[in-house]
Amino acid sequence: MRVYITGVSSGLGKALAESFLNEGNSVIGLGRRNNIEHPNFEFIHCDLKDPSFIEQFKFIPDEEGCILINNAGVLGPLKRIMDQQSNQIQEVMTVNALAPMLLCQKFLQEIPVKKRTAILNISSGAANRAIPSWATYCASKIALDRFSESIYLEELEMSRSLKVYSIAPGVVDTPMQQAIRSASEQDFSDVAKFQGMNENKQLLTPNEVAFKIVRFLALPFDGKVVHSINELGN
Ligand SMILES: NC(=O)c1ccc[n+]([C@@H]2O[C@H](COP(=O)([O-])OP(=O)(O)OC[C@H]3O[C@@H](n4cnc5c(N)ncnc54)[C@H](OP(=O)(O)O)[C@@H]3O)[C@@H](O)[C@H]2O)c1
Repeated sequence: MRVYITGVSSGLGKALAESFLNEGNSVIGLGRRNNIEHPNFEFIHCDLKDPSFIEQFKFIPDEEGCILINNAGVLGPLKRIMDQQSNQIQEVMTVNALAPMLLCQKFLQEIPVKKRTAILNISSGAANRAIPSWATYCASKIALDRFSESIYLEELEMSRSLKVYSIAPGVVDTPMQQAIRSASEQDFSDVAKFQGMNENKQLLTPNEVAFKIVRFLALPFDGKVVHSINELGN
C-alpha cells in the first residue's frame, strides 16, 4: 500500500511514517524537512503554505491501495488575535485547513475509487472548544472535522464507502507541545495547564498514538468520521 503523509520531520507525522514503513508499506512524505531514510520512503519537498504546490502535485495510484494522511499543522503565535500579523493567521488556516482540503480533493480526483483505502485528517481537541490565544488554530481544526464529515457524505451519496477520518490525537509529546509550554502566561493564559501535564507525565508519546491510528485504520468503517484518540482503544 502507498501512504501519503504530510509533515514527517517530527512528532506524530514521523511516528506514523515509521509505523507504516515497519508494516511493509511505501510512504511518500511531504514537507519542508526530512530525516527518514528507508528504501520504501520517498520525500517530496514542499511548503504547504503555498497552495500552488498542490496544484502541480500528482498522486500515483497503488495496486494495493492508497492512504492520505493530512498531518502537518502549525499552532501559529500563541497570542491574542489582535497581537498577531495577518499573514500569521493566513499561514495557520492554509497549512492546517486549506492544504488538507486541496490534497483531499486531488486524492479523490486522481486515485481511482477501488485504489482509495482511506483519508485521515489529523484534527485536535481544540476543534471542540474555544481557547484564548489559539483562535485560528481552533477554527482550522473544526473546519477539518466538518470538511471530513461532508466529504464522507458525498462519498455515501455516490454509494461509495471510503473511510474518511478526522482524529484528535490527544496531548502528544512533540515539538508542538514544547512550543505551547514555552509561551508566556501574559500571552497564553492556559500555559500552566500544559506545563503541569508535562510535569505530571500525562503526555502520550508519538509512537503510541501512531500505533493506535495505524491499527484503527485497518478496522472496518462504521461511518463515524470524527474521533478522539480515546475512542481508538488501548
Ligand atoms: N502534539 C499535540 O499535542 C497535538 C494535539 C492535537 C493535535 N495535534 C496535531 O498533530 C499534527 C502533528 O503535530 P505534532 O504535534 O507532531 O507537531 P510537530 O512535531 O510540530 O509536527 C508538525 C509537522 O508539520 C510540518 N509542517 C509545519 N508547517 C509546514 C508547512 N508550511 N509545510 C509543510 N509541512 C509543515 C512540520 O514539518 P516541517 O517543519 O519540517 O515542514 C512537522 O513535520 C498537527 O496537525 C497538530 O495540529 C497535535
